Amino acid sequence: MDKRILILGGTGKTGKRIARGLQHLQVPIRLGSRNENPPFNWDDPGNWQNVLAGIEKVYITFQPDLAVPQSIEKIKLFTETAKANHVKKLVLLSGRGEKEAQACEQIIIQSGLEWTILRASWFMQNFSESFLLDSILNGEVVLPTVKVSEPFVDADDIAEVAVKVLTEPNHSTKIYELTGSELLSFETTVSTIAQALNRKISYTEIGMDEYVAALKSYQLPDDFIWLIKYLFSEVLDGRNQWLSNDIQHLLGRRPATFEEYVTKTAKTEIWKVY
Ligand SMILES: NC(=O)c1ccc[n+]([C@@H]2O[C@H](COP(=O)([O-])OP(=O)(O)OC[C@H]3O[C@@H](n4cnc5c(N)ncnc54)[C@H](OP(=O)(O)O)[C@@H]3O)[C@@H](O)[C@H]2O)c1
Repeated sequence: MDKRILILGGTGKTGKRIARGLQHLQVPIRLGSRNENPPFNWDDPGNWQNVLAGIEKVYITFQPDLAVPQSIEKIKLFTETAKANHVKKLVLLSGRGEKEAQACEQIIIQSGLEWTILRASWFMQNFSESFLLDSILNGEVVLPTVKVSEPFVDADDIAEVAVKVLTEPNHSTKIYELTGSELLSFETTVSTIAQALNRKISYTEIGMDEYVAALKSYQLPDDFIWLIKYLFSEVLDGRNQWLSNDIQHLLGRRPATFEEYVTKTAKTEIWKVY
């Protein structure tokens, strides 16, 4: 039996970076994706066993987000299936200060398998590979009022930590808090991008009700609207407004700054307007 590492969300923000890191080390991997063979879909547990065959360790990213209430039941079933298929170690990408994410962490912790939890703050890549990209390209970012700062973290740093945790000993039964090295307001992040691109990008905060009504008018899915509302009204309340030095400790260097992220991302031309 080969001992592969399965990367769930293997085509996503952290997964694709971890896949690259493991391939560089010539570690055999399997991508968990709806487009792979066998496919992995959180909504199709009947197929999980095929994806888990021959797998020794799993990097778990849940979709759409561990914060959604259905996550608990699915993580429980996935953990049981992994255990029944002789998986030895689970590494869970979790969120900070989210009650449902912590319930999922507990399922992994109590699984009887080796485990490591990576609790990450807001990804910088939300501005370039996720829901804020269109706003940056349109030159207009509108968000619900946020009174707190966030220690945005670079997905490259998360991936470097994950590769270490998946390939080196001494990381089992550990919870790592992965934050960047600065507490920043959303307004500052947007103006940093605008300055680097030499482009005008307006930043406006509006009340939650008005924001939700705007999302509804764009016919965005209810689940997405629920999630954004939850993250902005419950999680961004100051509970995560602190810096961790776990990345420094694990990688022997400070986490990337937002400016460093912006400089390298601008070079990819993802923010280029045609
Ligand atoms: N964004 C943040 O700021 C942040 C912060 C902290 C924690 N998190 C956590 O990060 C996790 C997401 O990780 P990520 O950002 O690396 O991933 P991601 O970029 O959101 O997406 C990963 C991949 O998941 C796959 N996917 C979508 N729906 C799926 C489904 N029904 N079943 C199976 N796969 C599906 C898609 O790949 P295919 O199309 O190839 O199937 C997608 O490329 C969430 O659980 C969230 O709690 C996020």
